[in-house]
Order: sequence, then C-alpha cells, then structure tokens
Amino acid sequence: MHTFTIVPQRSAPTAAPSDFREDILKGLTGTPKRLDSKYFYDAAGDRLFQEIMQVPEYYLTGCEMDILSNQTRDIIRAIRAHTGEFDLVELGAGDATKTRFLLRDLLDEGVDFTYFPVDISTNVIRSLEEYLPMELPALRYKGLNGEYFDMLQAAGALSRKHKVVLLMGANIGNFHPGEALQFCQAIRKQLQPGDLLLIGFDLKKDPHVILDAYNDRQGVTKAFNLNLLTRINRELSATFDLDDFEHFPTYDPLTGSCKSYLFSRRAHRVYIDGVPIDFQENEPVYMEISQKYSLQEADRMALSAGFYPITSFQDSRRWFADCLWGVE
Ligand code: AVI
Repeated sequence: MHTFTIVPQRSAPTAAPSDFREDILKGLTGTPKRLDSKYFYDAAGDRLFQEIMQVPEYYLTGCEMDILSNQTRDIIRAIRAHTGEFDLVELGAGDATKTRFLLRDLLDEGVDFTYFPVDISTNVIRSLEEYLPMELPALRYKGLNGEYFDMLQAAGALSRKHKVVLLMGANIGNFHPGEALQFCQAIRKQLQPGDLLLIGFDLKKDPHVILDAYNDRQGVTKAFNLNLLTRINRELSATFDLDDFEHFPTYDPLTGSCKSYLFSRRAHRVYIDGVPIDFQENEPVYMEISQKYSLQEADRMALSAGFYPITSFQDSRRWFADCLWGVE
C-alpha cells in the first residue's frame, strides 16, 4: 500500500526519525541521487516556506488568495448546487489563511456546517483551535491531527453529512502525475456519492514566470532547498558544506514538470551518520517536483480518479485553478 505524505501548506516533520535516516540514505546512495521534499518542513523549513509565499516571484499564494477573496460566493453556490447538507474537511489546513474567506461567507449565509481542519502538525492544529474561535466565534470546528487518510476516516465517523474536502495550495503538484492520480483515487475511495472535492492546481503558463517562482532573486527558495542539508547535518550528524551545492530549478513546458535540483560544485565526500557518500563534480540531487497542469489535464485526472469535474475557479490572470469535483 502506497503511503502518501503530501507537502502541507505549513507542516512539520512528517516521519519518525528512523524513517528519516533510512529515506535520506536510500535517496543519496541511489542513482540518480534524490531527497524527498516532504522533509523540507522542519521548523526552519516552515519559516522559509512562509517567506517564499511572500516573495514577489512566488505567485501561487496570491493567485489562490485572489480566488478565495473574490469568488467565495460563487464557490458556495456551486457547492450547494451539487450536494446536500455538508461538513468541510480541509486536508493540510496550515494556518487556513485562505480558507477563512470561505468559512466567513458560509457562516454569513447561515450554512449549518462543521469545519474539520486536518494537519500532520500538532502545532498547526493547536494554533488553529486558538484563533478560530476568536476570529469566527460562530464556527463549529474540530481539529484533526494526523495523516490525511486516517483523519478523513475520522471525519467520516464524526459527521453524518456529506463531505466537502478541500485540498488547496497546489499541494497536489508535489506528486508526480501518476502518484497524484493514485492520491486522488485514494481520496475518492473514502468518499460517497454527493461528496465534493475542491482541489488547487497551478496551471501551465509562461515558462519564465514559472521558473522565476522557484528561483527568486532573494534566494529564499535556494535557502529552502539547502535547509534540508542543514537538517541532515543536525539530525544525522552529517558533514554537508552548503557552499558545495548550487540550487538549480528547471521547467519543461511540454510536460509541465518544474523540478528542483541541488548539484555538487566539486567532487567530494560527505558522511551521513558515518556512511560515506561520494559526489561527482556537477552531480545533481533531485529535490522536488512542482507539477503544472492544464485545465484539461486536471479534468482528465478527475475522471480517471472516479470524480466528475463540475467547474473551476480561476484568478484574474488565469494562472491558478481551484477545481470542484463531484462523486457520483
Ligand atoms: C507546497 N508546494 C505547493 C510548494 C510548491 O510550489 O511546489 C512548495 C515550494 N517549493 C518551492 N517553493 C515552494
């Protein structure tokens, strides 16, 4: 059984320390060398990701904010037209910055629902439970701390209503397309006819715009990638010298795959927990995929995963889409 760990909007370490050691060593002793981007998110990685969301080149957050701040009424209308009474389950809720617009408008419209924010990070759930009642006193909510699929099941046990599942922030893009499909199929398996999924896709666009988003001038994305080496140094007594590595993002407009690498500037040896790892000059380490889709590709994914595409909501530049999918 494939265990999925999607990169959350704001997250925490997602695996036990022994998994971390095993995954890192497996990734760096294989060919080609790779590291898993789910490990980007230690405390420093969380902070750097928050910073990325503020850099001018990283358009994704602003696009989705544009959609949620301007089109929540339309989103709610579409949701209500395609389901009965429902509860809202958000996978990877993070700080729910964007979702707040939706929650507020649902309350304003007198919709009777409970919000179940799901996050792998205890801190995230704790802080949501702290500020949600202050900001939205009328909101009924129950934070669910754990893996997505376990928590989706937990929400199912707590709620007799239909589920509207939110998967925002282009998190689906951090899977290879085949894995993304499997992930959506696994969500579909846990849903019933009449349930809905609202899922964010970063769309294919001017390749320069995409590449710049992963290569910001301030070097925050570079620091975000290099931070994983710092984490390995700290947690696995490794000997990485960050100056030996260069950040190298790529984008292929044909496939829509935006991939980030670190490459070794020189031939050298690093030790990780006593295990020697040799790097050749210019050898790449594959770090992350941020897959971009066309709307047609997103629709095809819906159908292949057992959903039907209902509609999509796009920002004013049409760079990003939150797609609403139904379950028959
Ligand atoms: C979390 N995820 C959608 C981000 C992305 O755009 O792939 C992570 C990220 N990596 C570098 N910049 C942002």
